[in-house]
Amino acid sequence: MRLIESSAPCMVDFRHNNEALRRQVTASALRGRNDMLKIVEVGPRDGLQNETAVIPPDLKIAFVDALSLSGVCEIEASAFVSPRWVPQLADAEEVFRSISRTDGVIYSALVPNERGLDRAIAARVDKVAVFTAASETFNRKNINTSTAGSIRRFLPVVRGAKSVGLTVRGYVSTAFWCAFEGRIPPAAVISLVEKLFDIGVDEVSVSDTVGKATPEEVGRLLDRLLTRIPADRIAMHFHDTYGRGVENVLTSRLYGIRIFDASVGGLGGCPYAPGATGNVATEAVVKALESKGVAVGVDLEKLAHARHLLDPFLVEDRRTMPEDGSPVCAACEYSTGDVCCRRR
Ligand code: HMG
Ligand code: MG
Repeated sequence: MRLIESSAPCMVDFRHNNEALRRQVTASALRGRNDMLKIVEVGPRDGLQNETAVIPPDLKIAFVDALSLSGVCEIEASAFVSPRWVPQLADAEEVFRSISRTDGVIYSALVPNERGLDRAIAARVDKVAVFTAASETFNRKNINTSTAGSIRRFLPVVRGAKSVGLTVRGYVSTAFWCAFEGRIPPAAVISLVEKLFDIGVDEVSVSDTVGKATPEEVGRLLDRLLTRIPADRIAMHFHDTYGRGVENVLTSRLYGIRIFDASVGGLGGCPYAPGATGNVATEAVVKALESKGVAVGVDLEKLAHARHLLDPFLVEDRRTMPEDGSPVCAACEYSTGDVCCRRR
């Protein structure tokens, strides 16, 4: 196993002529945040896409604005996908039009195709994310094409995004397990990550869509992947169905990974991945990293304020501690406020 101990800035990318990234460089330098990891807050997208409640756009805007003040470096604020497929995010334009953009924060969105890119550019996103999966079945169910078809679909999206100076993320979903196909071989994941870099994406988020990966499986994949791709181009995206999200973040960090996706309050899931629960909670990730001496620069009280804005609309019992305040797991090291990593 190849282990790398490192920490990194509230990560910046100097390769692109992108105003938002330049703002982030300046803001990070000003805040002296040069030894930090980067948290990508995906709650407004991955979290809210899976809620049955209809959350009014004004509340989503207030939610993103509150997150902007918490110290997270990047917020995936919505998705320009088909509203027939994900009606919960049909208001992406409205959200992007009305959020108050904070210097140093990147506001990104999912785009599945050229139509989505056009909408995202018109909405002035800072960064777009294309998304595919190592499982053919999941791709068919989620984006209605094969894995090879997704790469063909993304080619003009990535080209178009680059032509207007946008940074592009690629997601590889079902990187460990798939609800339909079971265990996914690392070779399939590595080959797909490479294909995404070949078509020009800047970073790839390796995603445990169903939240079933163990730290050992994470280590096995990273052992092989990082012989081919530098760690600073890889983000890890853990869902927390089996309560291993925090451990998986800590394991990935030992491999030199410095970008972690997380969702405030552990919101989230994919409507096309049955059984998967929310992302690993941002609060738990921050607390776990800080317990290892890593400066993350995220204010837990401000995060809690952002999440509580949604309280009237969410069915919360799957992501928070019981009302009597007892942690779901008595041995939980990473509970914070009323959010627990839900380790079982
Ligand atoms: P399709 O049905 O094959 O495409 O969907 P289509 O071209 O036939 O379009 C169907 C309808 O959607 C048409 O409207 C299009 O105009 C419209 P109609 O004529 O029927 O009224 N349409 C659009 N409208 C607005 N914006 C667009 C757009 N595209 C088409 N961009 C498609 C293919 C990819 C569009 C669809 O499957 C889709 O939108 N899928 C998105 C599913 C999704 O968002 N899933 C959740 C995100 S992925 C995830 O959560 C995993 C992740 O978190 C990482 C992890 O955890 O693994 C990222
Ligand atoms: Mg996800």
